[in-house]
Amino acid sequence: MRQRPDAPLVLGIETSCDDTSVAVVRDGSVELGLAGQTQIEPHARHGGIVPEAASRIHIEVIDAVLDSALTQAGVELRDIDAVAVTYGPGLPGSLLVGVEFAQALAMGLDLPIVPVNHLEGHFAAPWLRAEPSPEYPIVALIVSGGHTELIHSPAPGGYRLVGRTRDDAAGEAFDKIGRLLGLPFPGGPAIEEAARRVDSTPYYLPRAWIRGTRDFSFSGLKTAVLRLFEDRLGPAEAHRILGAAGSGAPRPGNPSFVADVSLAFELSVVDVLVAKTVDAAKRHSAASIIVTGGVSANRRLRQAMGDAAPVPVHVPEWRHCGDNAAMIAVAGAWGLARGQIAKAPVEIEPSLRLA
Ligand code: KG4
Ligand code: ZN
Repeated sequence: MRQRPDAPLVLGIETSCDDTSVAVVRDGSVELGLAGQTQIEPHARHGGIVPEAASRIHIEVIDAVLDSALTQAGVELRDIDAVAVTYGPGLPGSLLVGVEFAQALAMGLDLPIVPVNHLEGHFAAPWLRAEPSPEYPIVALIVSGGHTELIHSPAPGGYRLVGRTRDDAAGEAFDKIGRLLGLPFPGGPAIEEAARRVDSTPYYLPRAWIRGTRDFSFSGLKTAVLRLFEDRLGPAEAHRILGAAGSGAPRPGNPSFVADVSLAFELSVVDVLVAKTVDAAKRHSAASIIVTGGVSANRRLRQAMGDAAPVPVHVPEWRHCGDNAAMIAVAGAWGLARGQIAKAPVEIEPSLRLA
């Protein structure tokens, strides 16, 4: 095996959910190439991700995605120093495709393979920005379709769980409410867009503070939104909508009602996310806050966190908020530096945790 260079060129591979993504990153911070194919279209018809379809599509497209990342980066496979791949958490079938692909490449090229925790990847995403990197100790809010976790990282590579969702992830709540409102999947960007059409809303949705803990809960919001439907539409129509919810069939809603509910929902979610993160940052004397994951693309969340935080807030570039292989390559470079090279075939860990 080759000697480890000072500024390694890491090939990142991410297939944990519905994005097939490959990236080339130099020195754990400079993205040379990032290619990906997201599967929103095939899953949108079902209003959510279909695991069997996801892994089949990963298999179909991964070769082309690799070629495209290498071409963008202007490098060849023989220039790569290490392969980093997400081994969990995620959908088992999807994870397997990436891990098998990465192992075949690493073996063929005699390269070290670094198994990466997807959540450490999200944590690492802000390091891809040109600006100064986050300073430790860090409190990180990882908010995506599958996760809502508040993490305290006192020093590089160390992660402690501060709080997590007890039911739905924040992004999942966006997706569910989006479906109720008849908006396209994924709900997050659609709700954000709808909410931007109004400056204020007559509705107020509850905040699940779960006092005394830094845990989150978002499942009650769906019931609260349905109650708004009942008040406005009457129980029969609300139940018709409830019955259809999950069928994936978007129902055209009254645009101003949809905008009002979207804003009320966004305000409720953002309020709790910001308050708990800022509280944790103070308690752990954090030098910086990270907000990352698909939901960190939300402008209202970014703005509110920036306004309330006592320390600098670091968010990824837009393209690095959701699942992507560049962040996996950054965490892979960290793993490489820590000597976390797989000695045996990499096993997937669908329920892997960061802390
Ligand atoms: O990180 P990600 O791409 O995939 C997971 O690992 O889950 O996150 C996807 C989630 C979806 O639930 C989507 O609705 C949400 O992120 N999302 C947003 C926004 N963009 C994506 N939520 C709120 N506002 C957005 N702008
Ligand atoms: Zn993710």
